[in-house]
Amino acid sequence: MNTAAAHVPVMPDRVRAILAPAIDGPGAVLIDATLGRAGHTRALLADNPGLTVIGIDADESAIDESRRLLATELNRVHLVQATYDQIAAILIDFGRETVQGVLFDLGVSSPQLDDPGRGFSYAQDAPLDMRMDRSQQLTAAEVVNTYPADGLARILRDYGEERFARRIADAVVQERSREVITSTLRLADIVKAAIPAAARRTGGNPAKRTFQALRIEVNDELGALRRAVPAALDAMAAGGRIVVLSYHSLEDRIVKRALSERSTDTTPPGLPVSLPGSRPQFRLLTRGAERPDDAELAANPRAASARLRAAERVLAGETRSRASTGSMGAVPPGPAAA
Ligand SMILES: C[S@@+](CC[C@H](N)C(=O)[O-])C[C@H]1O[C@@H](n2cnc3c(N)ncnc32)[C@H](O)[C@@H]1O
Repeated sequence: MNTAAAHVPVMPDRVRAILAPAIDGPGAVLIDATLGRAGHTRALLADNPGLTVIGIDADESAIDESRRLLATELNRVHLVQATYDQIAAILIDFGRETVQGVLFDLGVSSPQLDDPGRGFSYAQDAPLDMRMDRSQQLTAAEVVNTYPADGLARILRDYGEERFARRIADAVVQERSREVITSTLRLADIVKAAIPAAARRTGGNPAKRTFQALRIEVNDELGALRRAVPAALDAMAAGGRIVVLSYHSLEDRIVKRALSERSTDTTPPGLPVSLPGSRPQFRLLTRGAERPDDAELAANPRAASARLRAAERVLAGETRSRASTGSMGAVPPGPAAA
């Protein structure tokens, strides 16, 4: 087990540039909601000497390893093992109502993927686990061996966007009646055998979408994100900035919707001025979703699916003309917009 393995932070320069104006002052606080191996946090602490970071991760080994990696900075770091939908309660414990920055870098870290004991990877044999928080009950093995075929098919379709969800679910149910499915490679083989031969030749490993779907189910990833982004937006001080890195379209859709809802003026059409209470609380800092540039993709293939979105809380009492609703901030555009 290699829990000390490295994780290369994704789009680090872009994250730093966007957050800098919000967190460079004395007393600034940033929530890193997905601390991982503290790659982004270490860079942000180095850039901003007055910054304190509340680092959250569901995974105990991420917290332990970050405590080691941040050993010289522990006076300005507050580490919490929790899921990120607990942001409001964590802030109360910390004695703050608002923060200047929030970062979400969603999904799995390289050490989690590379640690065969965690069961996240279809490329190496391991127990079917996939829990970010290993104190929780539900594992991938339990999903695979106990969910009815309909439930499995729905998960594979909704969370994996898997075309052959029904075939795979039926194959899983048939195989598990012969012998309980306990290992990642056995599941990967069942998936491979269930899909048509022609489809096996395209789109990478055929088990990829099934593994993504199970991971999302086991960790309630989309539910947690739906609760966490609004809670994070509520916690932002005026001028505060949020950056979210997502790695698949289901996550990105939730983030896009949450940010654009809060960046939209809800004044009924036809009125000459925005009504108080209807004005947008945020302005978008990214046009569409930004992607890593070619140099980063060449150096870090795990950044390939990253999409970055960001927004800034507008100043309290700021009067905004309706024409500026949802407009871009003064952040120079990133390498690519999609
Ligand atoms: C991509 S990694 C973050 C890497 C980090 N930015 C770095 O540079 O080292 C994502 C992290 O989020 C954590 N995570 C995933 N879902 C979570 C949740 N619901 N609540 C808290 N942490 C979560 C994972 O355990 C993992 O450590």
